[in-house]
Amino acid sequence: MIFGAVLAGGKGTRMGNVDKPKQFLTIGGKPIIVHTVEKFVMNDKFEKVIVLCPEQWISYTKDLFRKYLPDGSRVEVIQGGAVRNETIMNAIRYIEENYGLDEDTIMVTHDAVRPFVTHRIIEENIEKAQQGVICDTVIPATDTIVESRDGAVISAIPDRKFYYQGQTPQSFRAAAFKRLYQELTEEEREILTDAAKVFVMKGEKVTLVQGETFNIKVTYPYDLQLAETLLGGEKKC
Ligand code: CTP
Repeated sequence: MIFGAVLAGGKGTRMGNVDKPKQFLTIGGKPIIVHTVEKFVMNDKFEKVIVLCPEQWISYTKDLFRKYLPDGSRVEVIQGGAVRNETIMNAIRYIEENYGLDEDTIMVTHDAVRPFVTHRIIEENIEKAQQGVICDTVIPATDTIVESRDGAVISAIPDRKFYYQGQTPQSFRAAAFKRLYQELTEEEREILTDAAKVFVMKGEKVTLVQGETFNIKVTYPYDLQLAETLLGGEKKC
């Protein structure tokens, strides 16, 4: 079985002083999270699209989906976790309790605040995961990456051609993620914001799916303006 996990458990602190977490802010007349979930429910390979949000936003989120999504959309709204990977673990617990977990249970995890993910990206994630390949969606780094360990002086300038910017989806077998995540120490769990890194740290091969420059993560107020502009372009296509 294949599950979508739309991660909306964050508070969006970098968005500044707004009245709701950024995933609920509106672009093009619709909340960002609705744009994102629409891309997932369009794909009938998903048994369920699990949306994880802060506990106090669950009924609000359910109302949004009732308003904006067609009846019969295979969406379930449940509580996220304190950190991103705990949110993923909540999705895995939900799957385990309701469907059971076997080695063929696949998850396509995606940031709720990346509303411009495409059908092609989701399909390529599913295809790889079905072949048993863990994958991460990326785009080649455009700017030169400059490393500074102290925030003042450059410690290295790595060769840009080997560097990529991580996006989402990230897709894998749910049972494998659970196993490896449970092996991590508390300290390791705290520093890991990224699901792909759990696999990389444990020596597992993670392959690349080509993302899109427009598959942006809405993080700062500027990104909201950019998202409005991109949406205008999307509508014209
Ligand atoms: N996320 C999540 N559960 C958490 C933290 C984050 O599901 N405990 C989700 C966010 O809702 C978002 C995605 O992970 O869709 C990417 O994270 P990020 O952009 O860092 O979101 P926030 O943590 O909300 O933002 P900030 O760091 O500005 O507070």
